Amino acid sequence: MGVAVSPIQIDSRVSEFLGKTRPMLIDGKWVNAVSGKTFPTYNPATGEVLAQVAEGDKADIDLAVKTARKAFDSGPWSRLTSSERGKLVWKLADLLEEHIEEFATIETLDNGKPLTVARAADVPLAVDMFRYMAGWSTKLEGTTIPISVPYTPGAVYHAYTLREPVGVVGQVIPWNFPLLMAAWKLAPALASGCCVILKPAEQTPLSALRLGELIQEAGFPDGVVNVVPGYGETAGAALAAHDQVDKIAFTGSTEVGKLIVHAATGNLKKVSLELGGKSPNVVFKDSDLDGAISGSASAIFFNHGQCCCAGSRLYVERPVFDQVVEGVAARAKKIRVGSGLDASTQMGPLVSQEQLNRVCNYLDIGASEGAKAVAGGKKIGDKGYFVEPTVLTNTKESMKVVQEEIFGPVVAAIPFDNVEELMPRANDTVYGLAAGIWTKDISKAHRLAASMRAGTVWINCYNIFDAALPFGGYKQSGWGREMGKDALELYTQTKAVCTRL
Ligand code: NAI
Ligand code: MG
Repeated sequence: MGVAVSPIQIDSRVSEFLGKTRPMLIDGKWVNAVSGKTFPTYNPATGEVLAQVAEGDKADIDLAVKTARKAFDSGPWSRLTSSERGKLVWKLADLLEEHIEEFATIETLDNGKPLTVARAADVPLAVDMFRYMAGWSTKLEGTTIPISVPYTPGAVYHAYTLREPVGVVGQVIPWNFPLLMAAWKLAPALASGCCVILKPAEQTPLSALRLGELIQEAGFPDGVVNVVPGYGETAGAALAAHDQVDKIAFTGSTEVGKLIVHAATGNLKKVSLELGGKSPNVVFKDSDLDGAISGSASAIFFNHGQCCCAGSRLYVERPVFDQVVEGVAARAKKIRVGSGLDASTQMGPLVSQEQLNRVCNYLDIGASEGAKAVAGGKKIGDKGYFVEPTVLTNTKESMKVVQEEIFGPVVAAIPFDNVEELMPRANDTVYGLAAGIWTKDISKAHRLAASMRAGTVWINCYNIFDAALPFGGYKQSGWGREMGKDALELYTQTKAVCTRL
C-alpha cells in the first residue's frame, strides 16, 4: 500500500495564518509568551513544521487565570443577562459556520485527518455544539422547594435554589478532534457563565487559536476566554494545580487524568475527566452482517483509530467469526491511506511521530504475544506518520493488545459462544467508555446494553454523536458527562436560599 500524494492549493487565509508565529490570547489581547519561547507544530502528513506557536507555561497561565478571575468576579460578563450570553454563544456558532472550509483545512494540516471528514464532521459538529449550548443559557433554572423544618414549629419559609456558574475553569484538551474538543468544553462553560483558560494540545494548537479570533469577533468581553498553548507538563500542569481555578476539565490519557486529580487537591477544585477506552464491539450471528461488518470497520478505523471510544475489541459470535473478520479485513485493505488534503484519501496519518512509535510498538507486542495480522500490521513509508489499518486475530483477553488502549487503527478480533460467557469478558477492562452491539434481536440488544459497564452503548450503529446526547465514561474512562443537558452539571453549582417569612 502506498501513500497518495497530490499537491493542493491551500486557502490564502490559511497560509497567511500559518505564515506568522501564532501568539496566545490573554485578556482579549494576542501576546507572546512571557518567556518569549515558541514551539513548532508539525504537519503529520509530511513531518514538516507547519507553524510556530507561542509556548505558554506557568507565568502565562498565571496571567490568564488572573484575567479570567477578574472577568468572572467583577467584569461585564457576570452582568450580562442569560439571553445576551446565549446570543454571544450563538454568534460564535454562526461565525464558525461561515469559516467551515478554513477551519477544516487548518484541522487537516495540523492533525492529519481527511479534509472531507473535517468538513463534514469536525467543524459542523462544533458549530452544532455551540448552538445547542447557546439555547441552554436561558434555561438554567433552580426550583422552589417546600420545606418543613420540624425544630421550628409554626415557622414559614420560602426556599429555592439557584443554578450558578462554577467560576474560572481550566480546560485541557487533546489532539484527536482539536476544534471539536474545544467546542465540547467551551460551549457549556460559556453558556453557564464561566470564564475559561483553554490549553490546546501541543500537537494541534492552531484551530483553537483561530477560534480565539472568532471569539473576539463575536464580542465576548476580554478575559472570558483565554487560549494558552503549551506543553502538558508545564502549561497544563500549572493550570491543573492553580489555586485560583475553580474547576478543571480534561480530555486525554487516563495516566494524565490521574495526575490532574492529584494536582487538583491543593484547592480541591472540581474535576471532570474524559479518558481512555478499550471498547467492545459485539457482532451476533443474527445481525445484518453487511451492516455489522462495515459498521465494525468504521468503529475502529474512523479518525485512524484515534478515538477514545474506538471499537477496538471486536467480539464476534463463533459461527460468523471468519466471515466478519474477513469482511472487516477486506475493508481495511481497501482503505486509501494518504495526505488528508487529497480528496480521495480515506485515512490520513497518525498525529505525531510519538503516536506512530506507540502504535508500531503495539503492533510488535501483538506479534510477539502471538496475534496474527490478517490485514495491515506495518507502518507505511518513511515520510509522515502513516500506519496500515490492521486487524488482529489469535488474540485473547490476557494480551496487552486486548487490554491497553492503542489509539491507532488496530482492532483485535475475538470469537465468543454465547452472551453468558461473553459479558464478563466484554466488561473485563479498566475502561468503560463505549460499546457496540449488532443484532436484529431488539430484546437481546437492550438486555445487553443494560449489562455493559460503559457510558455509551450503540446498537446497530457506532460513533454516533450529537450535541444533545451525553458522552462520558464508567470506571477509569472518566468522571462526568460532556454534551447534552448533563454537561451543564459540570459547569454550574447549586445554591440553596432559605427565607423565613
Ligand atoms: P495526554 O493525556 O498526555 O495529552 C492530552 C492533553 O493533556 C494535552 O493537552 C497535553 O498537553 C495535556 N497534558 C499532558 N500532561 C499533562 C499534565 N501533567 N498536566 C496537565 N495536562 C497535561 O495524551 P498524549 O500523550 O497526547 O497521548 C497518549 C495516549 O493518551 C494516547 O495514545 C491515547 O491512548 C490517550 N489519549 C486519549 C484521548 C481521549 O480522547 N480520551 C485523547 C488523546 C490521547
Ligand atoms: Mg502525554
